[in-house]
Amino acid sequence: MGHSRRSVLAGLALLGLPAGSACSDGEPAPGATDTRVEVFSWWAGPGEKEGLEALVADFRRQYPGVDFDNAAVAGGAGTVARSVLATRLQNDDPPDSYQIHAGQELAADIAAGYVEDLRYLYDQQGWRAKLPAGLVEAITFDGAIYSVPVNIHRSNLLWYRPETLAGLGLTPPATWAEFLAQADGLRSRNLTPLSIGPLWTQKHLLENVLLGALGPDGYTGLWNGGTDWGGGQVQQALHLFTDVLTLTDAATAVGDWQAAVDHVVAGTAVYNLMGDWVDAYLRTKGLTFTTGYGAVASPGSSRVYNFLSDSFTLPKGAPHRPAAEKWLVTCGSVSGQDAFNPQKGSVPARTDADSSKYTGYLAAAMAEWADEGTRVVGSMTHGVVVDNTWSTEIDTALSQFTQDKDAARFAAAAGRRR
Ligand code: GAL
Repeated sequence: MGHSRRSVLAGLALLGLPAGSACSDGEPAPGATDTRVEVFSWWAGPGEKEGLEALVADFRRQYPGVDFDNAAVAGGAGTVARSVLATRLQNDDPPDSYQIHAGQELAADIAAGYVEDLRYLYDQQGWRAKLPAGLVEAITFDGAIYSVPVNIHRSNLLWYRPETLAGLGLTPPATWAEFLAQADGLRSRNLTPLSIGPLWTQKHLLENVLLGALGPDGYTGLWNGGTDWGGGQVQQALHLFTDVLTLTDAATAVGDWQAAVDHVVAGTAVYNLMGDWVDAYLRTKGLTFTTGYGAVASPGSSRVYNFLSDSFTLPKGAPHRPAAEKWLVTCGSVSGQDAFNPQKGSVPARTDADSSKYTGYLAAAMAEWADEGTRVVGSMTHGVVVDNTWSTEIDTALSQFTQDKDAARFAAAAGRRR
């Protein structure tokens, strides 16, 4: 990975950080043991649990004496898991380690003093030199580092089946205008142009419509204050979003993101806009990249990598702290990342992983991630560029927006923090 990847990531505006209040005392909690580790995540569904299992298998290989207690709570994007976790943390009942996105999503937990500073582990393991500097920056608050990233996911992808497109005489749209033009004809054939799922998947669509319409600078400006939410361009992009939403099956959708992808697999829907965890899911269905399924950058976002990163923490008062440290060491290791990511549909966070382990879609993703010409921006839906408070405000405004289609009202509610 070259310098420009580092500096582009470093240039991500991660503004408005609350002062971190956590500090590591480095001491095990009273009674802490080494024989068991409880790890909390939301990787319970198909396409996600396989990745976790592969990581756990490598953990067991590295540390055969430690029992792995899987506390995963199902629900895409952690929608359910994160509220279960919040209750546990409030009740002083932390797991030994929990999943959280790199970036602003960490801020509230740091401010609440829930997570430990991991600089000592970074020093011990030499991780700073093995991760993109911009990624380390996204998990650093007031000079302290609060999590261990296992991967890089890409949010802005449009998934399809080549056989469906061939039957329709279509190629994937490069712009939203092209998508709208295709969608007309698809609806008259009783096909869903774009399948979708619950609110978080609509938020995921929103961020990528904004990205495609505003470009990487305009999109990034929404989160760092550089773009005027009240301006005409944002209004236009929000109208585009409501237009696109009418071309989805949002009104009848049941199930999570996997169910939405199933419509594309069945050929009743033509496209799905989702992150590259879809790659892992489609492989669990026995499909192969390029023949069974394809993916392109979502309309208007070619050569842009809208990134997010899953990472793991060391909560204060972790009941099995020595074992939790071992878990984190596996998460940050080459062998852990090279076991996990090929199954998860993500590329390794580490820059020294074994690229021969990444084939199909992931070979292309790795090349694009490493390409000096690729522009990196951060995902809003998956915690990189907005903190939890802002994200919740966007959720509330979005559920109203999808009903009333009032772009000005949405912009005022969602953009008011900048
Ligand atoms: C994201 C997470 C991914 C994947 C996805 C769908 O938030 O970072 O690893 O799990 O949700 O659940």
